[in-house]
Amino acid sequence: MTEKKDKEAKFLDLVGRVQRCTKCPRMEGSARVLGLGCGPLDAPLLFVGEAPGRLGADGSHLPFHGDKSGHNFEKLIEQVGISRYDVFVTNAVLCNPKDERGNNATPTGSEIENCVPFLRETIEILDPSMVVTLGAVALKSCGIVQTHGISLKEGVRSNNRWMNRALIPVYHPGQRAMVHRSFANQLSDYQFIAETLRRLNQSPRRVTSKKRRSGSEKLGDVARQILESHPEGLSYFALHKLCFLAEVACLETSGKRLTNSYVVRQKDGPYFVDLHPAKLPTLVPGIQFRNNSGKLSLHLSSQMQLLSPATKMNLSDQERVMVERVLIKYGSWRDAELKRVVYLSKYMRALLRRERKTGENLYNAAVLPFASLDGE
Ligand code: URA
Repeated sequence: MTEKKDKEAKFLDLVGRVQRCTKCPRMEGSARVLGLGCGPLDAPLLFVGEAPGRLGADGSHLPFHGDKSGHNFEKLIEQVGISRYDVFVTNAVLCNPKDERGNNATPTGSEIENCVPFLRETIEILDPSMVVTLGAVALKSCGIVQTHGISLKEGVRSNNRWMNRALIPVYHPGQRAMVHRSFANQLSDYQFIAETLRRLNQSPRRVTSKKRRSGSEKLGDVARQILESHPEGLSYFALHKLCFLAEVACLETSGKRLTNSYVVRQKDGPYFVDLHPAKLPTLVPGIQFRNNSGKLSLHLSSQMQLLSPATKMNLSDQERVMVERVLIKYGSWRDAELKRVVYLSKYMRALLRRERKTGENLYNAAVLPFASLDGE
């Protein structure tokens, strides 16, 4: 077995045990938040938070995603140039602890202890060059995994040697912790993390995966190909749905994802987090937004149209043909028709079935598997 496959098998075994865990009575109804969506298994950087939030990870199944803490965390890493796709994010406690009113609660000492073996195993399997703890609970948990003797107050934003890797403690990015450490101060902490990571990446131990970076570049190329086929413009809604149909076509023909972008369930179906209007101009240079009777429509500047197709360097010929086939079949469909066809995909149907069966609100839950782990 290759090293990569071996790692994956160990991790999936761990995930299976986590999903079956019943150690903490009050976690009975909470999701066990550990899976491939937490990040790549060869990530050089592991973030450890406290516990999934009721309005975030408990529903989205992605640590620090979907609630205010997640929003702050994603903003902080993005501002210092760290991509979520290059890091692994987990929590000291893998289920959402609730108080008697159903609100988020701080995990108890025994709940933290119960989850320590899972955290230890996660660190051992991933073997990251750097661990960053977010808040006091995460720092305490790591101290149980292996003593470090660091307090958050004194050790914040310091680089420590621990378990043969770097350990950097920072504050929790939730709103409550902002009272102790402002957003501006936290941003400096994350600049320190990014700088330390850059230095570690320059050392021979780790190099950021080229393949993973090309994941969102691929999404940019898919979006460009779709826009080029609509010189009259395309609705923002249709762009998401056509990208989704291209992903589905790729999964069906090769069993692999086309891009590694997060696709989450939103009110109108699958939504690509990377196709947010704030991100699109970087992803698709030359994209223009127009207001079409209150509806956002997207266009490619004529200069950018002239550059095709040589600029779509991240897609293989086969992938381009596959996107083309999707465009031939669905390219002229109206928004309502596209909505219907994406809802009929097996991925959306599985999510809707789960919603009906469990009564859970799965808004922001991942619709597609995070990324193909199949050989490169
Ligand atoms: N969401 C998480 O996943 N962890 C936290 O600690 C807070 C919110």
